Amino acid sequence: MTTELGLGLVGCGAFGAYVLDAVAGLPGLRVTAVADADPARAAALAGRHQVTACPDPDTLLRHPGVDIVAVATPPATHAALSIAALRAGRHVFCEKPLATTARDAERVGEEASRAPGTLVVDHVLRYNPLLRAVRRLVSEGLLDAPRRFLFENDAADEDLDADHWFWDPDHSGGIFVEHGVHFFDAARALLGSEPQEVRASAVGRPGGPVDMVVADVVHPGGALASHLHSFTHAHRCERQLMRLDHGFAESRITGWIPTHGVITAWTDEAGARAWERLPLRTAELLHVPGFRPHPDDRVSVTVHRDAGGAAPARGRGVTRSVPHRVDVVVDLGGEERKPYVYTESVRAAMADLVRCAATGGTPVADVRAGVSAVAVAEAATRAVASGHVQQVVTVGAGSRTA
Ligand SMILES: NC(=O)c1ccc[n+]([C@@H]2O[C@H](COP(=O)([O-])OP(=O)(O)OC[C@H]3O[C@@H](n4cnc5c(N)ncnc54)[C@H](O)[C@@H]3O)[C@@H](O)[C@H]2O)c1
Repeated sequence: MTTELGLGLVGCGAFGAYVLDAVAGLPGLRVTAVADADPARAAALAGRHQVTACPDPDTLLRHPGVDIVAVATPPATHAALSIAALRAGRHVFCEKPLATTARDAERVGEEASRAPGTLVVDHVLRYNPLLRAVRRLVSEGLLDAPRRFLFENDAADEDLDADHWFWDPDHSGGIFVEHGVHFFDAARALLGSEPQEVRASAVGRPGGPVDMVVADVVHPGGALASHLHSFTHAHRCERQLMRLDHGFAESRITGWIPTHGVITAWTDEAGARAWERLPLRTAELLHVPGFRPHPDDRVSVTVHRDAGGAAPARGRGVTRSVPHRVDVVVDLGGEERKPYVYTESVRAAMADLVRCAATGGTPVADVRAGVSAVAVAEAATRAVASGHVQQVVTVGAGSRTA
């Protein structure tokens, strides 16, 4: 790469500042300008990074040193800012969610399909090495594609004061939209199909806003994803578990930013030998371009030969000879290393945009991923309000999944 792309950030709050720190020093990128509705915030962040503080987003979009616009404002502003940036000929790094309604997400998709710029949605899970490893193991046939995705998210509300925009659906879109999109998108990637229909429920503390939601999402081919988000915990009591049922195998992944995974698989002799080679392939298995691997990342495998006896095993009409049980641990350092994994995932998402901006390629977390996730979130929100199953419908630049 011969030229550097200039990055301009709109939204200098908590996560905008985090993004700038995460992408500092990324090859091919240089931070040039920031803007915020609150000029004091823009000035403070501009001072820290020695860049221009623009008086408003429009000025930033016209700034000659801005090639990529990072949008890190509250969700309800994402669609309009992304469309304006694309119209100005810029590339866009849009914080999740892409929009707060499926229609607005599609508008962004339509603009992205016309505009020269590339758009990445900051769905950080798409750039997580552990989830990449699971997808690689599925594509290699060591794991079957999951038929079941379950995510239990006991998240913290300790820093979310009653007047935070998070609780106001007009600004955030509600929990399914504001936070659920990460996992609707992850399920779409891991199950390898477009979600079809949604059942959902929501509750809240007495007299308070909705703070706990659950959705069951039907995918084609007999696959089911279940999502729970509960913003009711102290930070120290946060717990998350992602469970994937691959039929003859199971993956249990902890952390909403996945940092530790345990896979248990039943296999034959050829499979056992392939699993045993996995630790030698750690770097390749966990590789995500732009994510700098940690030296303490570990993959360990234990094979228990003949743990299940010689008789064939049958599940969902499939019969296999799988006498051996394999226990695999993929360790990215657990909860203690979450900040590292999180930051590197954001860096890898930006690296994906920088690479695609240069080559014209399609990013991993592309606009279609953003549109699809918002469409599922909107269907889940409708399902709560109506008490009925809702179809996931996206058209235009998204995918048709009615
Ligand atoms: N990808 C992730 O893992 C991740 C994690 C946390 C937050 N986020 C997302 O980042 C976004 C920002 O979240 P946050 O926690 O930093 O919020 P925040 O409230 O801390 O910051 C938002 C900032 O945007 C500014 N702003 C609001 N409207 C604006 C406008 N129209 N033009 C310019 N500036 C405007 C505010 O003044 C504020 O400084 C949200 O969409 C959130 O969902 C993503």
